Amino acid sequence: MRTATPMSMPPPPRPEAPVEIAPGVHWIGALDPDLRSFDIILKTANGTSYNAYAVRGSAGVAVVDTVKAEFADDFFRRLEAVADYGEITAIVLNHLEPDHSGALPELLRRAPQARLHISGRARPMLKGLIHGEELDYTPVTTGDRVDLGNRHLSFFQTPYLHWPDTQCTWLPDAGLLFSGDVFGCHFCDERLFNDTVGDFRFSFDYYFAHIMRPFRSHVLEALELIEPLPLRIVAPAHGPILRDRPERYVRRYRELSSSTLANEAGDEKTLLIFYVSAYGSTRAMAEAVAAGAEVAGGVRVSLYDIEGGEVRPFVDLIEEADGIVLGSPTINGDAVKPVWDLLSSLVSIGVRGKLGAAFGSYGWTGEAVQMLEDRLRGLKLRVPVKGVRARLIPTEAELEDCRTLGGELALQLTGRADNRIIDMAALA
Ligand code: FEO
Repeated sequence: MRTATPMSMPPPPRPEAPVEIAPGVHWIGALDPDLRSFDIILKTANGTSYNAYAVRGSAGVAVVDTVKAEFADDFFRRLEAVADYGEITAIVLNHLEPDHSGALPELLRRAPQARLHISGRARPMLKGLIHGEELDYTPVTTGDRVDLGNRHLSFFQTPYLHWPDTQCTWLPDAGLLFSGDVFGCHFCDERLFNDTVGDFRFSFDYYFAHIMRPFRSHVLEALELIEPLPLRIVAPAHGPILRDRPERYVRRYRELSSSTLANEAGDEKTLLIFYVSAYGSTRAMAEAVAAGAEVAGGVRVSLYDIEGGEVRPFVDLIEEADGIVLGSPTINGDAVKPVWDLLSSLVSIGVRGKLGAAFGSYGWTGEAVQMLEDRLRGLKLRVPVKGVRARLIPTEAELEDCRTLGGELALQLTGRADNRIIDMAALA
């Protein structure tokens, strides 16, 4: 929804022409106000924009990013208004996802003399874009420069914000950071600048939550490079151009990337146990896992029955936790829905390297534990301790196995065990 325009005033015209955002720097991107879903997972109530820029120097023009392929006509029209193709000496792609590289092949055809500058990590993406052609390009890294005569561009590698290839490009004479997806949002407003568009704060945070949050540690690393810069403008690849107090948005990234919860456990490791129980058997196993971990010590153990299906409150907890254990009965050959729902929600946070484990009771076949372990491994958790299954009502020996499981997990978390798969038979 765009901010309402008073009835007596015509809506502001869409910028058909390029828009100068700093001396010799033009926005030449495209607006996509009707988009309602981006990359399938993001809702885009306000559509989005694909921001691209042209930087004129005394010895050439650099094009920073392009647009999604179906918006190429808008991009080329705006580019042609500020530069001849023969003047383009450099093309910089901060990130090769198709929403920014869609017009690249055609741009390379129209400006064959232009040198392409991309992150060294972008090579596989480039090969995927330009099939069969051997394209000469310059891989760049932090500190490398592109000379435009009286001004230059330099680069900051910001990997995993949100792809391996992502980088930011810095125009020091203008204090202008072309930040790619970083500091962007899906918010289309033809007024372009953060001090003239509608209120987009929700969109900025929403975008971070879905795109950047899984890579919080990488965001913090990138902020170490960006925060010292004398920023006057941040020009992202989506959404408003941040020319009014851009440092607020940098600060917001630090807030969003930092722990949102007080560390209640202090120096203790945290182990979260989630379970669903049809007849109380998996619950008894969960309590035994918790008891075993408590006895081993050094961990703060929390136990949650997720039969109610709530997921969102637990995502923050899992992001902060050191290990998670999932308990599910097997019903019709599968783990139960609340557990899968919890797992599917983890896509928005970083869980790589956390400790994972599973357990559960079953009637006939008992596939759930193995399925959950496989999924945990698929999410890149460590699953070094084999899970426990119990048919119908767990025996005292099976509950002891659960206590052993909890104890082993505590040892793993506190560095008192090797990272190895335990043969439960050997423990008997
Ligand atoms: Fe906007 Fe990751 O592309």
